[in-house]
Amino acid sequence: MSSDPFYREAILDHYRHPRHKGHLEDADVHYHDHNPFCGDEITIELKVENDVIVDAAFDGRGCAISQATASMLMEEVIGMPLEEVRKWDKESVLEMLGIEIGPVRLKCALLPLKALKAGVWGLEEWPE
Ligand code: FES
Repeated sequence: MSSDPFYREAILDHYRHPRHKGHLEDADVHYHDHNPFCGDEITIELKVENDVIVDAAFDGRGCAISQATASMLMEEVIGMPLEEVRKWDKESVLEMLGIEIGPVRLKCALLPLKALKAGVWGLEEWPE
């Protein structure tokens, strides 16, 4: 993890006090994914009105990066059009995290993004 104390602290704070963790009643989008290498899991749920995300929640278990990224993403997506979130990529997540991370940790950060993207594209499962 980067030594930048501000971002490091922000990530640890999201990990210790996750935002929007739990379940949504009547979610319009529900997507579950896991990292086959470590078994960590993320479920994303979204409530959508007129193609805008009006509420979001995640559940899961795993490392600090995967869980903190999920928490940060949930804060970001509320109020966003689906179209906007469909454009997000690896760079968007790295920018949000504000740290440099190596290839192994990158997989951790991308797990929640993958679940979120699959959800906003309406996938039932990730295409192989
Ligand atoms: Fe499993 Fe990070 S170690 S997602």
